[in-house]
Amino acid sequence: MAPKFPGAGTFVPPSTDLSALALAARSCRGCDLWEPAEQTVFGAGTASARMMLIGEQPGDQEDRRGQPFVGPAGALLNRALDEADIDRELTYVTNAVKHFKFVRADRGPRRIHKKPLRSEVVACHPWLEAEIRAVDPSVVVLLGATAAQAMMGTAFRIGTDRGRVLELGDAKAVATAHPSAVLRAPDDERAAAFAALVDDLRVAARLLV
Ligand code: URA
Ligand code: SF4
Repeated sequence: MAPKFPGAGTFVPPSTDLSALALAARSCRGCDLWEPAEQTVFGAGTASARMMLIGEQPGDQEDRRGQPFVGPAGALLNRALDEADIDRELTYVTNAVKHFKFVRADRGPRRIHKKPLRSEVVACHPWLEAEIRAVDPSVVVLLGATAAQAMMGTAFRIGTDRGRVLELGDAKAVATAHPSAVLRAPDDERAAAFAALVDDLRVAARLLV
């Protein structure tokens, strides 16, 4: 029987040129997520970045604007990067899954984020691999469990393994909380969650020097 999701593999051109990859990704049909979404949200940033940051999937605003981490989670990420003395302009930012997965609110126009299935993460993985080949970063920051498990395997746990220096091929990786998890933290825990994110980003930044 044909697999439910063919996966992105057949859509990925044999290129290490990011614009060629981004253009091809616009017509990816590797899984079902492309259809209800507005557009593919490919990675963005410096092609020769030494640091690559990987999130989960685009959110509502990313889907509308076609850019990763430009909504509320992106604003929090920007603040955390600033505090860790990392210039986002010099990084490459992407997601494990390139289409926004959502359910519609019962009432009103709101689109509510839905966590991607493992099969969707696997289907989209060839794009992430192509981005890593093209950018060839020396440090990869894994933002949240979806990104961490996409790269380190499903046994990986952010709770116990965050903030440690991990080996990822020729590169080093550091996993940390997802910025959205910090946003969702209870009021009295948010400052500590933010500080922990900044600490982990500093671990990653130190690997660059
Ligand atoms: N959350 C993510 O994981 N990625 C984005 O691009 C935006 C929100
Ligand atoms: Fe292709 Fe990834 Fe979008 Fe699925 S989520 S259609 S694999 S780009």
